[in-house]
Amino acid sequence: MTQVENKPTTSDTPFVPMEKIVALCKRRGFVYPNSEIYDGVAGIYDFGPLGVELRNNIRRYWWWWMVQMNDNVVGIEGAIITHPRVWEASGHVENFVDRLVDCKNCKRRFRIDHLPAENVIQNKCPECGGELTEPRTFNLLMETYLGVVEGERMKTYLRGEACQNIFLDFVNVVKSSRVQIPFGICQIGKAFRNEVTPGNFLFRQREFEQWDLQFFVHPSEMQQWFDYWKEKRFEWYKGLINHKDRLHFREHGPDELAHYAKQAFDIEYKTILGWQEWEGIHWRQDWDLSRHSEYSHKDLSYTDQNTRERYIPWIVETSGGVDRTFLYLLLDAYEEEPDPAGKESRTVLRLHPVIAPVKVAVLPLQKNKEELVTTARDVYKKLQRLMVAQYDDVANIGRRYRRQDEIGTPYCVTIDFQTLDDRTVTVRERDHMTQVRISIDELPMYLLERVTWQ
Ligand code: GAP
Repeated sequence: MTQVENKPTTSDTPFVPMEKIVALCKRRGFVYPNSEIYDGVAGIYDFGPLGVELRNNIRRYWWWWMVQMNDNVVGIEGAIITHPRVWEASGHVENFVDRLVDCKNCKRRFRIDHLPAENVIQNKCPECGGELTEPRTFNLLMETYLGVVEGERMKTYLRGEACQNIFLDFVNVVKSSRVQIPFGICQIGKAFRNEVTPGNFLFRQREFEQWDLQFFVHPSEMQQWFDYWKEKRFEWYKGLINHKDRLHFREHGPDELAHYAKQAFDIEYKTILGWQEWEGIHWRQDWDLSRHSEYSHKDLSYTDQNTRERYIPWIVETSGGVDRTFLYLLLDAYEEEPDPAGKESRTVLRLHPVIAPVKVAVLPLQKNKEELVTTARDVYKKLQRLMVAQYDDVANIGRRYRRQDEIGTPYCVTIDFQTLDDRTVTVRERDHMTQVRISIDELPMYLLERVTWQ
């Protein structure tokens, strides 16, 4: 992957308050509250022009790294709605629940598993000290109905985790592709949860997008592949962030592990919210395929082509979120930097160039000089075919640089009077604000080498 030398940052750098990210996202068209004109819906968001570019880049980069670059991994795209029995087999109908209490005094609602132990023991609200209600249980699956005739409609669910399609399609993939164990199936797709306490912007939503790898192995090779993917996924996240010391593994304690799991790790990232999960690496063993075999009465075992051994494969899962990645990368990238010249400070998003929503901005030095504008438009049109580019001729050049810094554009190309003489341009880099002079002919390759993954 293209490496950039970002300014070294350490844990001394203060955490970015969430409100700053929320405000920037709205102001610059990354994220909007869903149905805002009707006062919004908690835990549901829309993505604006820059947000959709950033999401697409995050998704594409994950897909490239996980599917395209691994000979033993293929991708699928499953439907959001599945047969309702899927969710019985997966255990979600029975167990996908949050236990909640309400404060009788301030009316706030809390998940019991998020409360400090002393508040649970004393039955006391952590905010106002008021008395808490008896716990109530809520299922997180979102219900929906198939069919139009009342009484004949089938109740089913919007998928509560995207990965179930991968188990459902396992046999089809084996039969239709030339994959052999060990191999993996990847998918990126929406998931829906009736989170009772959505919040912290994109961190906990009701509609969100997950990416999963389910890697199928022989039981004797489980540990080795678990270790392999655990390290690979850590490396992926580490390559994208500036604050490398804010990323770590947290191993699940024995009380957190599913009964079939020998190990589970969360890759966690530290923000203003503290250390929180970014992605889970799970030891799923033969749980999923065995359960779906049992509930569907279909044979989901695998036969080894060489040894003829027949077995239910074990699974290593790596499961993360597009939205959480979106949020964490913004929190990681945001910086307000004092101007060395002592004027206005600048807000800069130090996003890795491969995921930055706009790769380059083309800026004529002045907009009232026709030759500058014509040349700049020409350069812009050429670059636009290769990468997401913007053309901007409004306001002085310093203001235009700042506008691009704030949305994370890694390069600005300025067309000035020298350009008209020798067909060279100034390329200004976002993080260090350094400038180089290169010829227009060299420009596309110069930029492509820096903003695309390879
Ligand atoms: N298949 C396993 C699974 O779904 P999970 O820990 O519930 O595991 C995986 O979810 C990832 O999905 C999390 O690490 C997180 O990145 C993302 N995620 C989960 N719930 C979310 C929510 N309510 N809002 C946004 N992202 C969420």
